[in-house]
Amino acid sequence: MITQAAPNSASIRQLRVAFPQQSFPVGQDAEWCVVSDGDSWREFRFHDYAQIYEVPGLYEKIFIEHLKSRSHLIMAEALVRELQARKRCLSECRILDLGAGNGHVGAQLHELGARHLWGVDVLPEARRAAQRQHPHVYTGYSLVGPQLLKDLKAFGVNTVICVAALGFGDIDPELFEQVMSTLPSGSIIAFNIKEQFLNSLDPSGFNRLFGRLETQGKLKSLRQWRHFHRFSTWGDPLHYLGVVAECP
Ligand SMILES: C[S@@+](CC[C@H](N)C(=O)[O-])C[C@H]1O[C@@H](n2cnc3c(N)ncnc32)[C@H](O)[C@@H]1O
Repeated sequence: MITQAAPNSASIRQLRVAFPQQSFPVGQDAEWCVVSDGDSWREFRFHDYAQIYEVPGLYEKIFIEHLKSRSHLIMAEALVRELQARKRCLSECRILDLGAGNGHVGAQLHELGARHLWGVDVLPEARRAAQRQHPHVYTGYSLVGPQLLKDLKAFGVNTVICVAALGFGDIDPELFEQVMSTLPSGSIIAFNIKEQFLNSLDPSGFNRLFGRLETQGKLKSLRQWRHFHRFSTWGDPLHYLGVVAECP
């Protein structure tokens, strides 16, 4: 049985992960693996984040150690570089980590010098995991709900990072736009997204949203680039589009 014991390096080392042998690739939102803590094996679907977050260290084991996920490093660095170019002090920025999960991105920004970070996720399991694994990283961590925008305004968000949390049924265009509406002019936003969601024929609505925000002068893209996100379970590199933008 995979337990929810307090994380320690020994229990994390004990976790073993195996990926399915597939003759053809499955969609990114259908990927899965099996995990053993030494006794038995249990299946985890990647998009069942709640179950993954409940096992200390499992998210890192699957995505960082095995699938070589790099998005948290790439996007944190891109955000910091843009802030430096504008001579803004990272430690003074009030940063929202949207779709924060277990705090992986926040921890990276904290390591780089960020001191005012607010996490947001839809899952209580994500917040619990962030509090357990990175207790000193976030000033606060809200769950999506009626209080969310009030929390963000009270915190005074002026910088946003959102890593691997748009599309695939995760954060939808409506929530992203609501969050954008709380930002003051001059705010910097760094996010990444799988390119398919920006296709004009894609039904997710992100193509329309970004087009409209740019046309209305509410979002100005500063930099876009294709980057390695992680490997798929069948070993293909998966790429995302990184975007750094500002609220004019
Ligand atoms: C792939 S994980 C990325 C987590 C983190 N950003 C990282 O890079 O390690 C996607 C996260 O988005 C969260 N999420 C999904 N739908 C959401 C929503 N409607 N609002 C906020 N967060 C959401 C999930 O719970 C999950 O923690």
